[in-house]
Amino acid sequence: MTGIVEEITIGPARLILGDMREVLPALKMRADMVMSDPPYMLSSGGNNGELGGCFGRNRYDNGGALFDVVPWHEMAPIMLAACADNAELIIMATDREEARARAAFEVEGARFHRLLVWGKGTATPNRWFMPNCEFGLYLYKGKARRLNDCGARQMVQVRQMDVSHHYLPADLPKLERAPHPTEKPVKLRQDWISNVTDPGALVLDPFTGSGSTVVAAMRAGRRALAIEKDPKWFGVMVGRARDALEVSRAAFRRAGVAFPENGAVSAKTGGCGA
Ligand SMILES: C[S@@+](CC[C@H](N)C(=O)[O-])C[C@H]1O[C@@H](n2cnc3c(N)ncnc32)[C@H](O)[C@@H]1O
Repeated sequence: MTGIVEEITIGPARLILGDMREVLPALKMRADMVMSDPPYMLSSGGNNGELGGCFGRNRYDNGGALFDVVPWHEMAPIMLAACADNAELIIMATDREEARARAAFEVEGARFHRLLVWGKGTATPNRWFMPNCEFGLYLYKGKARRLNDCGARQMVQVRQMDVSHHYLPADLPKLERAPHPTEKPVKLRQDWISNVTDPGALVLDPFTGSGSTVVAAMRAGRRALAIEKDPKWFGVMVGRARDALEVSRAAFRRAGVAFPENGAVSAKTGGCGA
């Protein structure tokens, strides 16, 4: 059993609909990098009903989970086993979750480089300081790798610009046509991916949501393996990957790396999949 419900390969990206806990162990893959924004318990500081959007009363039960949560101690060994002997990981978390996340990855053998800070430019209403940043746990497995741009800063400001709702079917009811509730900017991910991997590297995101990591990897001239268990967001990811195809082709050309028309196998990593 592979747990793969559906899959499609678009140029350098292999996109899979399924539960990462079943799919990833079955793929026996060797990613050069994991770039992911996992579904963890949200700690919005209490919501007494004043919040809108994805935290509005009509969409969110104030229970702390926007998605089905996968505990850190469960996802960490699965992700690390899917990495090559030497690999980089950037795992997004809020300040209230990052200690738990870091402990779960370190106990499985990952080592900590630095806490990256994403300044979002917007702030979420809250009674105990309004959060306006999120964090990327920058970890590594095996041997540490130098950054491509050692002048890159720990904190970056990148404005959130949601695009995922443009890829939803037009006949969905209005309430279901909102952007993915935790969509991340492509630029943020593209900069991080470009800095910690070589062109042609394989980037894994086992909780891809609307596909921001896929688009970022494609634009950076890297390959992507993406898993998402919600068919709605899998469909959005497929649309976004199709739109990124030509930009990706140009990025591979600029880097002097052969474009993998169908997620072709790389000598370095052993390829996109099983
Ligand atoms: C925090 S969101 C990621 C959003 C992403 N950063 C983006 O830009 O769209 C986490 C995603 O993981 C998915 N997910 C939750 N549990 C999963 C599982 N066991 N396997 C695969 N995907 C899962 C959810 O459906 C959700 O879309």
